[in-house]
Amino acid sequence: MPHESIIEPVDDTSLDLGAQLLAQGKVVAFPTETVYGLGADATSDQAVAAIYRVKNRPTFNPLIIHVAQPAQARKLVEIDPLAQTLIDLFWPGPLTLVLPRRADSPLSLLASAGLDTIAIRMPDHPVALALIARADRPIAAPSANRSGSISPTTALHVEQSLGNDVDLILDGGPCRVGVESTILDLSGQTPTLLRPGGISVEQIELALGRPIALGGNDGAVKAPGMLASHYAPTRLLRLNQSSAQPGEALLAFGPGFPDATLNLSASGDLTEAAAHLFAMMRELDSPPYTVINVTPIPEHRLGRAINDRLRRAAAPK
Ligand code: TXA
Ligand code: MG
Repeated sequence: MPHESIIEPVDDTSLDLGAQLLAQGKVVAFPTETVYGLGADATSDQAVAAIYRVKNRPTFNPLIIHVAQPAQARKLVEIDPLAQTLIDLFWPGPLTLVLPRRADSPLSLLASAGLDTIAIRMPDHPVALALIARADRPIAAPSANRSGSISPTTALHVEQSLGNDVDLILDGGPCRVGVESTILDLSGQTPTLLRPGGISVEQIELALGRPIALGGNDGAVKAPGMLASHYAPTRLLRLNQSSAQPGEALLAFGPGFPDATLNLSASGDLTEAAAHLFAMMRELDSPPYTVINVTPIPEHRLGRAINDRLRRAAAPK
């Protein structure tokens, strides 16, 4: 029987269908500015359980809650003046804040894996915002791929990874940012980076006028999703290479690699490189290539997020 695609172009009808499915506890994949998300009603344990099932995700791994407005977040988490400052500056946008759960929060405990803190963000994408607003509830959404594989930045990536296990994929074109949101933990004494992402540490420190703590190994414990081997292609990935052997791929960054199989950004633009990262890793994780060699990427601004994903992709499985 011919397989009917569940990818739908975005219009009033598909947005309404998406909102309806979410209200019924189903999972819907939708675009954000970072990567495609696999969304479900964040107030329903059953709906959230469907995300874990579809992703094959270990249930101790908490999810990010997506809202359509800052006012929606107020009902879910405690927002202190520092959080408010960051919300004013960076929402909508790729900054997730970890904040104390409100005592009267309607959020599913499964969504935060029983933690008393919640990771929450307002995505900067018209389709995500419209879908959440129409569903009229907070939406829990991890990246729309099987746990441990490369994050999807197009609707087709989602279909290739999740196939029929998802009820609807809203197609909003390729994601602009291309790496996941930055996760900043504001629940302790010092703002702490748990995951580098679309908003750089430099931007946050400039806004706050002081340095933030970098999560490091401690962050690996606090953000249990940050498993060492993650974003994993099936092929061996080698970092800091300058060339490739016959049969191997070279994924370059910057000028001076005329023999590169693909270049994340030939002009050396880190923003462009982030947007290309997952799609290019996917493309090279296929025959005829046996190994993916990656040239060095500078460790600043979005380069920090890119290198974080590459190190996980290169980690032994
Ligand atoms: O850009 C993004 O953030 C994408 C799009 C879809 O919005 N979402 C995403 O979600 O990357 P996910 O589930 O793949 O990543 C969630 C991360 C995990 O590393 C998890 O451990 C961490 O957020 N996290 C969630 N709740 C947390 C909490 N209360 N404390 C610390 N870390 C938390
Ligand atoms: Mg993910």
